[in-house]
Amino acid sequence: MSGLDSELPDDSQQFPTKLRVIAIDGPAGSGKSTIAKHLARRLGLEYLDTGAMYRSVAFAVMVHGVDLADSAAVVEVAKNSRIHVDESTVTVNGVDATTQIRGPEVTRSVSTVAAIPGVREVLRVRQRAWAIERGGGVLEGRDIGTAVFPDAELKVYLSASVKVRAERRANEVAALDYETVATDLAARDAADSSRQHDPLIQASDAIHLDTTELTIDEVVSNLVERLNTDHD
Ligand code: DC
Repeated sequence: MSGLDSELPDDSQQFPTKLRVIAIDGPAGSGKSTIAKHLARRLGLEYLDTGAMYRSVAFAVMVHGVDLADSAAVVEVAKNSRIHVDESTVTVNGVDATTQIRGPEVTRSVSTVAAIPGVREVLRVRQRAWAIERGGGVLEGRDIGTAVFPDAELKVYLSASVKVRAERRANEVAALDYETVATDLAARDAADSSRQHDPLIQASDAIHLDTTELTIDEVVSNLVERLNTDHD
């Protein structure tokens, strides 16, 4: 992983030099989390929801009453926040934020937080360290294959129709209705794809799968097959 070597600390002996990283990117509701979780289980790897990390910073910004327009202050919040994300729980500075990071206030502010280069830098370093500590993993987000791990073993770009994506999100969060979700989703898609730093775009060497009509099993099996074929 040449792209990563320069990031390794001097005592890199303690880390495996070969990382097994699977990068899954795509817009909200495209199936990234579900597919990443299932694929990680099939491959015996851990899974990281990097969107939850951006949401955690947005949550901390909200808790501290920091002005979203004050980028330097938001970056300070990112630097000073202890964020712990695992498959079932998210804590921010020791506080359980699992539910609140999915709420409407965080969802509306997260694209603004994610557009700040200093915030992206802080989280990118932590995402790389997370994978290095584990010898790899399945990471999902918007820029994993383009910016965080450009040398990932497999890069996947998932998409789905706006209607299906909004339905999936509305089903995940009981308090939200379809119309509200669809409007927020369209606004977030536009912001995430048009931002200057690490926008949501498909990496040129990523596999594109439209999950609108596919089952979880179909997508996961397709990816496992590709991994096996690529190593033959
Ligand atoms: O996956 P999600 O909807 O929970 O992500 C929340 C926001 O975080 C999303 O609107 C864009 C941002 N994000 C990002 O910019 N880069 C990532 N790697 C992951 C998420």
